[in-house]
Amino acid sequence: MDACGCDTFASIFDRRTAERDRERYRQKGPDRSTLMLLDLIRNQGVSGATVLDVGGGIGVIDQELLRVGATHAVLCDASPAYLAVARDEARRNDLLDRMELVEGDFVRRSGEIDAADVVTLDRVICCYGDVDSLVARSARLATRLYGVVVPRDRWIVRAGLWLERLLFAVRRSPYRPYAHRNALIDRRVADQGLVPVAETGTFGWRVVLYQRVSAGGQA
Ligand SMILES: C[S@@+](CC[C@H](N)C(=O)[O-])C[C@H]1O[C@@H](n2cnc3c(N)ncnc32)[C@H](O)[C@@H]1O
Repeated sequence: MDACGCDTFASIFDRRTAERDRERYRQKGPDRSTLMLLDLIRNQGVSGATVLDVGGGIGVIDQELLRVGATHAVLCDASPAYLAVARDEARRNDLLDRMELVEGDFVRRSGEIDAADVVTLDRVICCYGDVDSLVARSARLATRLYGVVVPRDRWIVRAGLWLERLLFAVRRSPYRPYAHRNALIDRRVADQGLVPVAETGTFGWRVVLYQRVSAGGQA
């Protein structure tokens, strides 16, 4: 991989995909599972909160939370094309002064990124092989809430992901999707002192919100 850790992601999350995601967002708003995660977060209140959106793509979560009272958002993504579109959209919606865009593999750059009240990984963990590092380093930075959207542990979902892996391999793409076990993700999040407080989802996606346990053991 290149020094930034971006080549693999840049090859798949390219300008065309980013533009397509932007058009869909402008026409229909957030995707269904993203909306579910946003609702779980908004139910906990985000007034005055800071946000870290890991693998945030075109910045849907950032924009939506900034609009309802979050004060500042950091979007870290390994795709330069997605970040370019995220910047355009934030500027267009007058939110750029409250957003910071960080380019690169979050696992490599996490030491330079500040903790935030709300940390999100929406359909990101399934793009990354080293689930332990990605989850541990991002959950550690969540001072209040940690929200993820991950593929469900259903055989049909796992089979679909393995088929996708095969297709990428046949096309000689370096990108691979991953079907990380939900229980493993839960354990890695728990290791960082967070407990699940709300869960929902679609047939294919599991949407979970975790909360940091206070020193007195309260969520
Ligand atoms: C499937 S897209 C999801 C984008 C957005 N979160 C959404 O749900 O629309 C996955 C994104 O995660 C990014 N990504 C995956 N692993 C990453 C990592 N380790 N560091 C930074 N970005 C990452 C990719 O570049 C891509 O933009």
